[in-house]
This record gives sequence, structure tokens and C-alpha cells, in this order.
Amino acid sequence: MKKNEFLLTERMKHIPQGPFNVHPIFFEKAKGAIITDVEGKEYIDFAGGIGVNNIGHCNEEVVKAIQDQIQKYIHTCFYVAMYEPYIELAKRLNEITPGNFPKKTMFANSGAEAVENAVKIARHATGRPATIAFEDAFHGRTLLALSLTSKMKPYKFGFAPYAPEIYRMPYAYCYRCTFGLEYPPCEIRCAYFLKDFFNTYISAEQVAALIIEPVLGEGGFVVPPKEYFKILKKICEDNGIVFIADEVQTGFGRTAKMFAMEHYEVEPDIMVMAKSIAGGLPLSAVAGKAELMDHPQGGGLGGTFTGNPVSCRAALAVLDQFEKKNLLAQAEKIGKRVLEKFKEFQEVYPMVGDVRGLGAMVGMELVVDRKTKEPATDFTKQLVNRCREKGLLMISAGTYSNIIRPLMPLVITDEQLERGLSIIEQTLNEI
Ligand SMILES: Cc1ncc(COP(=O)(O)O)c(C=O)c1O
Repeated sequence: MKKNEFLLTERMKHIPQGPFNVHPIFFEKAKGAIITDVEGKEYIDFAGGIGVNNIGHCNEEVVKAIQDQIQKYIHTCFYVAMYEPYIELAKRLNEITPGNFPKKTMFANSGAEAVENAVKIARHATGRPATIAFEDAFHGRTLLALSLTSKMKPYKFGFAPYAPEIYRMPYAYCYRCTFGLEYPPCEIRCAYFLKDFFNTYISAEQVAALIIEPVLGEGGFVVPPKEYFKILKKICEDNGIVFIADEVQTGFGRTAKMFAMEHYEVEPDIMVMAKSIAGGLPLSAVAGKAELMDHPQGGGLGGTFTGNPVSCRAALAVLDQFEKKNLLAQAEKIGKRVLEKFKEFQEVYPMVGDVRGLGAMVGMELVVDRKTKEPATDFTKQLVNRCREKGLLMISAGTYSNIIRPLMPLVITDEQLERGLSIIEQTLNEI
């Protein structure tokens, strides 16, 4: 029996099916944008550990920072007594996150946990109960984050009851506009809909926060029109609602700016970050206006592992690498090439219904029929599996799992990128 096959039988025996795996293989090592499995087969990584490896696998400076820190101390708990890397990282994130106002930052372990903290802070600061989230949103799997998440299967199904006081609006998903309109003549109806929403779903005075992804991640790399967030933010400001940007997937260079909100020139009241923040180690952050962040009482926020010193050191090294390697320019270049290639696919293959992108966050939506826009879910699955057989690792996204969303490390070489794209092309040709 081959090693992957053997490990798969072991996995089935000892691990429940809930923690799902897209690909039935096991990794041995990874470097840059290449992963090698336990049988020695190499893959070009277009999945990036779901957006975690923006600076590439096992970046040398990150490894060095981790090694240095683990010689000193691994865990002491910030709530017992403090350590410098936590402070230094908070200071740097306060400097680079959008917003020309005093900020404070706290750390947690995962994207979901950061989302939960952001909502807790907004509730505490406003004294209001409700949160507005969006269709096709993904904010995590813990119970409050799951309640904010939109997709039913597999995420929410069977886990009810959900957290109360969550209200859901349509997102600016132009390809599948809820209002049946087209941009720009629509005049961003979906954003102004928030005002109607206050009359028909929840009154503004009861809303603590609106939480939104600048570009939908799990929802399928959906990029809203440029005016969208300014309109939403203004309505929030007029009504005392905390505007939370969930930059867990868009952050740390994925869209060719450090944070996607910079493209929209909007300063969120609170921003949540995770994934690529610490080069692969678990860490998340909540950064926001100091007066909001300081609102909850001492001890009201936190957790045993939150802001682990090794993760903080790794994150500081990640920030240095962004500067030294000019990774934002690299993201821009990758994004342009992927967009160009996906647009070419759209001209040739009728199943490519829509192609859209912001920086290196480029999505290709596959449909059975361009007129009905019926999602090509099985076809997408087949494409992902056949690409793996040819040495390319990809994952899909979208409420109907019919969107290809490359999340390659931004250090991918031109040759690796071209090889990956040509594997997609060959496979589209075949099926
Ligand atoms: C936008 C967004 N928010 C939150 C999360 C949850 O992050 P985690 O899986 O680290 O809990 C994700 C994960 O994919 C995400 O993409």
C-alpha cells in the first residue's frame, strides 16, 4: 500500500469526518510555493494553506525568529505577566492598519476568535445587541462566528440554534445581483438598501456592528464596486454603528495592498486579521479605535494562548519580509497575470461565467450555462481533482463551491505560476 493510501486509512480510523480534507494526500515538506507529499511528489501550491502562506512556506527569516524565540520562552501567558513581542506587534499593526486615529490592538488565536472579540467589543461600546452580516459571508466556525457565516452546508447545517440578534443583508455580488440590476446604472442599490433594512428588519438604534469582508473569501472572491464601502460606512457613522472589516483572508498583501480596505479608502472602526499574519503560526488580531478597544473591562477579553510570543515574533518577521521583498508589488504582478489568463479562459470555455479580481485575489466562477448561471459544482470539483493529479493544488469557494480561488504564496516564481496556470488550461481542455 502506498504511503498516502495507508495514512488515509489511518486518518479514517482515528479522526472524525467533520474536519474535512479537500485532497487525499499527506504533506512531508514545503518551501516557497512548492509542497512535497509523503511519496515525494511535488505540487505547485495554489491553495496557500487557505490564504495563510502569503509570504511562502518556511520563510527563512520567520523560521529564524521562531527558533530564536523558542530558545527563550514558548508560553508564559500574557494575562499572567507581559512580554515585549506582544507590545511591539500591536504597535506595528496600529501604525499600518488604515485609519488616522489612535488605535489599540489585541491578539487571539484564530480568525473566528478575532471576529467574536470584535463583536463583543462593539456590543460593549454601544450597549446594543444586534449585528448585521452579509449573504455569502464567512466569518468562522465557532458559534457566534458561525452564526455570522452564511453558507448552510456544510458549515451551519445541524448546528442550530445560532447566536441571536444577527441580521443578514445581500452583498454586492454583481454577477448574481439580488436586485437584478447592473453596475453602474444600479447606483449601488445594495449599499443604500441598508437604510430600508433599518425599517424592515432591525432598527438602527439596536445595531452594535456591521461586519463585512472587503472581498468575499469563502464566498467566492467577489469584489464590490469601488463606491460600496464608503456608502455603507457613512450609513453606519450616521447611526452610531461600529463598522468591522473582516480582513482575515484579504489582509497581508493578498489584494496588493496590505489591507483591502485601502483600495476603497475606508477606515474601519475595527479590523480583524488572521491567516497570513504570522507566516503559518496560529495568531489573529483585532485592531481598532482606541476608545472602542478600551471599552471592555479588564479581564473581559483574552484567553490562555492568545498572543503567543512565538507567533508574535513570527508576525514581526512577516512584516519585515513584506518590506524587504516588496511583496505588494509581487501581488500586483501575480494578480495581473492570473486575471489575464482567466479572462482568456473565459473567451474560450463557455463554462467560465465570470472572472473578477482585486490584486492577487482573482476568482473564476464556473457555470453550467452562461444564461441561467447554474453553478457548475461537480465540474469545479473535477477540475480541482484533475489539477492535483497533474501536480497543482487548488481549492474552490462559493456558496455552491463553483469558484476557483487561487491563493498562491506571493513568492511564487514566474515559472511556477505559468506552470500552474497551464495545468488549469490543459485540464479545462480535457474536461
Ligand atoms: C474572512 C474570514 N473570516 C474569518 C475566517 C475564520 O478564520 P479561522 O478559520 O482562522 O477561524 C475566515 C477563514 O477562512 C475567513 O476567510
